Amino acid sequence: MKIPMLNIPRMQSEIRDDLAASLLKVLDSGQYINGPEVAAFEAELAAYIGAKGAVAVSSGTDALIVAMMALGVKPGDEIITTPYTFFATAGSIARLGAVPVFVDIVPGTFNIDPAQIAAKITAKTVGIVPVHLFGQCADMSAVLKVAEAHNLWVLEDAAQAIGAKWQGQMSCTMGKAGCLSFFPAKNLGGLGDGGAVISNDLEFIEKVKVLREHGSKPRYYHHFIGGNFRMDALQAAPLRIKLKALDSWVTGRRRVAGRYNELLKGIAKVPVIAEGAESVFNQYVIRVDKAARPAIMERLKAADIGHAIYYPVPLHLQPCFSNLGYKAGDLPVAELAAEESLAIPVDPKLSDDEIKEIVNIIKG
Ligand SMILES: Cc1ncc(COP(=O)(O)O)c(C=O)c1O
Repeated sequence: MKIPMLNIPRMQSEIRDDLAASLLKVLDSGQYINGPEVAAFEAELAAYIGAKGAVAVSSGTDALIVAMMALGVKPGDEIITTPYTFFATAGSIARLGAVPVFVDIVPGTFNIDPAQIAAKITAKTVGIVPVHLFGQCADMSAVLKVAEAHNLWVLEDAAQAIGAKWQGQMSCTMGKAGCLSFFPAKNLGGLGDGGAVISNDLEFIEKVKVLREHGSKPRYYHHFIGGNFRMDALQAAPLRIKLKALDSWVTGRRRVAGRYNELLKGIAKVPVIAEGAESVFNQYVIRVDKAARPAIMERLKAADIGHAIYYPVPLHLQPCFSNLGYKAGDLPVAELAAEESLAIPVDPKLSDDEIKEIVNIIKG
């Protein structure tokens, strides 16, 4: 039975008519960029997260870029982050001329190890970008503590973790700001690219809004150099509909994760969720012996079951960052995770039969 990583049409089948109507409404409105749909989405998103402000932008990557522009990041600044993440986290830092400084992850959760941050802080360090990987928050109590001690800002990369909590607090509300992605495979996925910057600091929100439109306010008067980071109304309108369904999909993801946890006992290492973390399971990532992984992947491929390695090469070993001087062995926990991790479908609508089928194939 063919099982993709995420069957988006099936997932959203109950709201398909509403989604189609929302697109037609935009078509007939004649307002295609920013406008009332985007403003309404921003207000609803901020309310969902319980934050004072949200700025909808063109992608999660652009959310990171524009947030760091608003934070005043300049060439030569050092920014601490994790090597075990999607490329955009460190790519955005580098695109601003700043230097990503990689800190290894903890063995369990795949997230940054706060205990190793202080040793990497220099006079040039300006901030920390923890990533809430696979839907689970990093240990934010410890990250915020080290940031405060060294007077650094914290920008949460919550691209994979909308609605995730750390000790009862929502992602995106713990640092100076948080960034979301609405890439279609995210828990709240658009019908294309989209992202948002979230913050409780309204002055910061305003600055991001100005930078989103080439730094102009009023229009054609430029106090800063920004960019075009705007969201299309054609994304905001369906995202407003999908936001209402988000919690039920997260419940489905948690159901699937719980079932895998039972069935995979003794077969693979299931995800470790830290005490105090409430994961939204954007991905369900198991760990298997590195020698056994290729055969498991072959079986999954032969059975037409979605699977992926997130991520095969940690960022400190990517060729484009070779100038930073890292070598294999420098960040061993991330390097081992790259060799052992395996993501399997965590579609909120997976049936019990589908879950059992996937587990059987992994078992071999
Ligand atoms: C951790 C992380 N950061 C940033 C991004 C960038 O988001 P986008 O693909 O919307 O640009 C992603 C998404 O793929 C991500 O997973």
